[in-house]
Amino acid sequence: MSRIRNPKFQAKVMSATDAAAFIKDGDNVGVSGFTGSGYPKEVPGALADRINAATAAGEQLRVGLFTGASTAPELDGALGASGGTSFRTPYQSDPHMRNAINKGITDYADIHLSHSGPQVRQGFLGNLDVAIVEVTAITESGELVPSSSVGNNNVYIDCADKVILEVNSWQSEELEGMHDIYYGTELPPNNVPIPIVRPGDRIGGTTLRVDPSKVVAVVETNGADRNTPFKPLDEDSKAIAGHFIDFLNNEVKQGRLPKSLLPLQSGVGNIANAVLAGLLDSDLEGLTSFTEVIQDGMVDLLDSGKLTVASATAFSLSPEYAERMNENAASYRQRIVLRPQEISNNPEPIRRMGVISCNGLIEADIYGNVNSTHIMGSKMQNGIGGSGDFTRNAYISCFVTPSVAKGGDISCIVPMVSHHDHTEHDVMVVITEQGLADLRHLAPRKRARLIIENCAHPDFKDALLDYLERAEKTANSLHTPHDLREALSWHVRCLETGSMRA
Ligand code: COA
Repeated sequence: MSRIRNPKFQAKVMSATDAAAFIKDGDNVGVSGFTGSGYPKEVPGALADRINAATAAGEQLRVGLFTGASTAPELDGALGASGGTSFRTPYQSDPHMRNAINKGITDYADIHLSHSGPQVRQGFLGNLDVAIVEVTAITESGELVPSSSVGNNNVYIDCADKVILEVNSWQSEELEGMHDIYYGTELPPNNVPIPIVRPGDRIGGTTLRVDPSKVVAVVETNGADRNTPFKPLDEDSKAIAGHFIDFLNNEVKQGRLPKSLLPLQSGVGNIANAVLAGLLDSDLEGLTSFTEVIQDGMVDLLDSGKLTVASATAFSLSPEYAERMNENAASYRQRIVLRPQEISNNPEPIRRMGVISCNGLIEADIYGNVNSTHIMGSKMQNGIGGSGDFTRNAYISCFVTPSVAKGGDISCIVPMVSHHDHTEHDVMVVITEQGLADLRHLAPRKRARLIIENCAHPDFKDALLDYLERAEKTANSLHTPHDLREALSWHVRCLETGSMRA
């Protein structure tokens, strides 16, 4: 049976090239896609072809590009390489798009994922001209069955002047029923509390609504979500996971957490995925998750029965796990809820349910400030994603990282971070393969000694302690002592020599 079950939509089927022709120079385009899942597979490539042809003919065709979060080579890769993206928000991780941003070709607004939908609704990001959204199917009554991510799709479909739908038959039809699409959010002053009390609560319907008169094109596709496989677990990531689990067990022992913990959030990236793998080997049971993405490690936890339910906005699965999800979607949909990102990342339920957050970082400083986004102060890596949404509102906020990067030339614990994403006020626990620093209730100088002692790599420990002790002698105050002439000297040295080593 056709995935396009409504004749009005059937009548709008056309090629990706014809659909892309609806997009004009200067348009803002809101597309589906979140951490490599549920992004449109063909229209963005056709748009990139048009951009390349226009450039070759000496004409201009540039668009503003809004997504849920990172996408894949067919979208961010093709549009980033074309140079035709004038503006990009909110999170990306593609090498071509990153390059366009760091070369100044693309303006990038790195905003919190929970803010991105509401800011589009406010009109703050300008008019949204076109939405391109991948769906699994269109129902008889003209509603849209979402695919492997929800992201900002509800917002983009509501706000765009024109809507292009990609109906992807690679996505399992059994995904129908996994989503929880809540239409109860309003802009202030009309907003009301979100009625989620437990991570698995369903508060909306299973489909997205669209005004059929706005749908200008329907394109049939059959492409797999293209995620990068996670790096294999190494000794360092196993050690990081071990410290995190010891910490959680101790919190239970001290009576500060229930045995089934509180809802877990796990960030993007290899280390966050490795932490989930560590939970699989732990004695913890009856876990729940209120998070943004479901990675391989979380699927294993669901399979093992240790995790009873996972709420997120998207999958972030390796190709092998994406196939597994597709084959078994009917079973997983009992235990997985995919929501719009304005709900999955919303500070209100995160704070109320007491989420335990765990995210990766680029570098942390001795006082517990965290940089998640920039390499050596200026260069964008990916973006803040949802790490701020969760960290700022978590019951316990944790960060995980190897203590060194680039073969040991770079210390991930530095005197002062070269960019601030999460301040010392929000960061409670820092974990490396060396150990864990629980910063709660500690004044800055005590934090510094604990982070250096427990988290820094032995090769950089003495230099960090030396910095702290000299700063204590020379700074204008003993509250958070810094030697401002030296605070970023490790980064300067690295830019000049390729290494932070003295
Ligand atoms: N200086 C320079 N480069 C560094 C570095 C540092 N201090 N720390 C890490 N890197 C480099 C690594 O070498 C690696 O480079 P490569 O891709 O060339 O190999 C890259 O950054 C990624 O590091 P890795 O150790 O593989 O970590 P990761 O996959 O766990 O990702 C972040 C770490 C911070 C990039 C990632 O977690 C992220 O994008 N976070 C922000 C968004 C977020 O947290 N979202 C979650 C909300 S649900």
